[in-house]
Amino acid sequence: MTPALKNDLFLRACRGEKTERPPIWIMRQAGRYMPEYQEIRKKTSFLGLCKTPDLAAQATMLPIDILGVDAAILFSDILIPVEAMGMELEFSEHKGPSFPQPVQSRMDVDRLLVPDPITHTGFVAEAIREITRRLSGRVPLIGFSGAPFTLATYMVEGEISKDFSRVKQMMFSEPETLHILLDRITETVIRYLEMQIEAGINAYQIFDTWAGSLSPVHYQSFALPYVRRIVDSLKRYGIPSILYVNGSCALLEDMVTAGTNVVSVDWRMSLSSVRERVPSGVAIQGNLDPVSLLGAPEILREETRRILDEMKGRPGYVFNLGHGILPSTPVAMAQYLVSLVQKGPDVPMPQRVGRV
Ligand code: CP3
Repeated sequence: MTPALKNDLFLRACRGEKTERPPIWIMRQAGRYMPEYQEIRKKTSFLGLCKTPDLAAQATMLPIDILGVDAAILFSDILIPVEAMGMELEFSEHKGPSFPQPVQSRMDVDRLLVPDPITHTGFVAEAIREITRRLSGRVPLIGFSGAPFTLATYMVEGEISKDFSRVKQMMFSEPETLHILLDRITETVIRYLEMQIEAGINAYQIFDTWAGSLSPVHYQSFALPYVRRIVDSLKRYGIPSILYVNGSCALLEDMVTAGTNVVSVDWRMSLSSVRERVPSGVAIQGNLDPVSLLGAPEILREETRRILDEMKGRPGYVFNLGHGILPSTPVAMAQYLVSLVQKGPDVPMPQRVGRV
């Protein structure tokens, strides 16, 4: 049995309800900026960490204990189910993730599996059960998946890319191959998220991080329909869903039609304009620039106040960054941000740590 939640601000905000104050969590909140994470990480590789439920649970708990955020997010990576589809995955310290044999042809696509999630990624379900035990209802747990287009980007590019030229080349030369790939990823993601929901997550976020590189027409064809299919398939579980796209300014209205409860936006748009463009029943998450945590505390306080003012009185708001927290962030600044949102502008300010 899932224990009753002591803090359900996050879930209420996702459902578009008015809350006493906005809940806050931080994308990539368990990560390299925390010395305690580095300690856990010393024991194993990043993939080893993801695949060891006890360690993944320890990492998930760090920002709950150290920052006091209003939601936990499963410690894992969007590329875990892609490895289960049959692609060799490597993580290097300097280059980040890579696939040594990227998808290049229709034949490569045909070789990919739609894996059984328990058989191939059962460690994720185990981690969720372990995290739920450790949380014992303190805050909700967010599960997640990459969106089909963003996962396809990594599978076709083979590594982090600046211009996405390979996946776009496939889009402009063999659109049918890309659609078949996206279809296979979508089936994988649906099963993978079903497993997470059955293991006990309270909400899920879909990361379509790189869909912002598409024109609206291509977004409507190669990204949106697949996310919509995932959201539709999971509606019967009744848990809140969030869609994140980095660089979504030109796509916001389309993004809303995916049907998630929440849209998560980056800092390139003012939240007052997002408020006008997003229907009142849909909640909004975002959108502090992650680099503001590397600056002066006074300026962080002003930026936070501006965002809170922009969203004042709007039911359904979750405070977050516009993208993941950077590894060079001082922990004291992340703690300060959480206090500013939870307690207001008069909380004690940390000494300035960084310098330009
Ligand atoms: O938010 C959280 O704290 C949950 C865990 C989480 C990670 N990655 C842990 C991680 C989540 C939700 C992700 C999502 C993810 N992973 C995305 C989508 C969101 C985004 O940030 O754009 C993407 C594109 C990836 C792929 C990925 N994983 C990259 C590009 C990298 C290397 C760059 C980097 O920041 O290190 C990773 C590695 C990764 N994922 C780390 C962590 C904590 C660092 C690994 C380490 O310990 O060395």
